[in-house]
Amino acid sequence: MRGFRYTVATVATLFASTATLANPFGGANLENGRKMHAEHCVACHAEKFEGDAARMYLRSDHKVKSASALTQQVTTCVTMLKLGWFPEEELDVAGYLNKEYYKFK
Ligand code: HEC
Repeated sequence: MRGFRYTVATVATLFASTATLANPFGGANLENGRKMHAEHCVACHAEKFEGDAARMYLRSDHKVKSASALTQQVTTCVTMLKLGWFPEEELDVAGYLNKEYYKFK
């Protein structure tokens, strides 16, 4: 009986971690993220790269190298801009950027 319980717990843990690995931004509303990013973030990034905002994320020496770094950088930009977003909104934008550009697993 004990062994069985242990197995159930292990399988549940494995499933949980697989889900996290498959999508570090699970639950993000990507369409909302796209909109918020277009409204608040693109213009300034575009200005830095001759109108091509995507290069901020795709330049060869870009800074963000992991899902957690992406989350942090989004929070940093949102805080710097004093946008006062909810954590869910930051998640939406981070999830959108990940799907579109970074593709962290
Ligand atoms: C006023 C200008 C400005 C605005 C607006 C802005 N950013 Fe940025 N962002 C920057 C600059 C400058 C950098 C590059 C910093 C560096 O290279 O050290 C940057 C870098 C980033 C990066 C890292 C790119 C990399 O190197 O991988 C992310 C992610 C990012 N911004 C997200 C956002 C998000 C999300 C928003 C909207 C909430 C936003 N930024 C709005 C100026 C801005």
